[in-house]
Amino acid sequence: MLTVDSLQVTYGGAVEAVRGVSMEVPDGAVVAVLGSNGAGKSTLLRTISGTLRLHRGRVDAGSVRLGDLDLTRRDAGQIVRAGVVQVPEGRRIFGRLTVEENLRAGGMGNRDRAAKAEAVARVHDLFPVLRERAGQRAGLLSGGEQQMLAIGRALMASPRLLLLDEPSLGLAPRVIGQIGEVVAEINRQGTAVLLVEQNATMALGVADRAYVLDVGKVSLSGNARELAQTDEVQRLYLGHTGDAPEQRTDRAPLRSLSRWSA
Ligand SMILES: Nc1ncnc2c1ncn2[C@@H]1O[C@H](COP(=O)(O)OP(=O)(O)O)[C@@H](O)[C@H]1O
Ligand SMILES: [Mg+2]
Repeated sequence: MLTVDSLQVTYGGAVEAVRGVSMEVPDGAVVAVLGSNGAGKSTLLRTISGTLRLHRGRVDAGSVRLGDLDLTRRDAGQIVRAGVVQVPEGRRIFGRLTVEENLRAGGMGNRDRAAKAEAVARVHDLFPVLRERAGQRAGLLSGGEQQMLAIGRALMASPRLLLLDEPSLGLAPRVIGQIGEVVAEINRQGTAVLLVEQNATMALGVADRAYVLDVGKVSLSGNARELAQTDEVQRLYLGHTGDAPEQRTDRAPLRSLSRWSA
């Protein structure tokens, strides 16, 4: 179980990006985090994965724990070894390397050859296109294929918990549907997933539980299916598939949802 407790994060000592967030990701669960642009979703994932410092951010208060292990302020390598692996916003694959080389880069922490081969086979079964395109430059893949490669690369580290930052961003609706199916399958194979999304249709379709972040705070949380049925989530989030993020202006109406806060 991942437990985030009363987390406060700032950038440059000034911008309060996360203001007292608490949440849980039980072992083997899919938990979604929804919220408009600037809500603090990426900051939350960066804090969990230990990459916050690369963005000049700092944890001011609160903690992140994985079971009994305190992950707060640990470095990214230790956190990967603890089983928590992030797919960053914008995919960040190595465009000039081949698909296969990208996957191998994700398995670098794993010295065991047999385990590595098994991980590649598992990724290839999940994404047959990565097997077909193994020798091709990753930069030549479509956006959806690049996202699948980014997810596949993260899976090479055999995570217990996979952190996904807006995997649907910029993808066509059909491809977004495939991403949702992939998340469900990864979860069926035993990996917990913390899924950050602006696409609520996909995220609530696959998640067990969901949290809505609004200007750095949790404004709403609960069972994903129940949240999806509320009028407000329907109106604010559902049907907004693939919209340009800067067109989203849900901030004021979201506050009215806070009465459902857990
Ligand atoms: N590297 C950074 N330096 C300074 N401010 C940042 C940085 N990254 C994000 N922020 C600010 O922190 C807040 C939350 O951003 P972010 O976590 O990226 O939100 P989201 O992922 O939900 O769009 C925003 O006000 C954003 O401008
Ligand atoms: Mg973000």
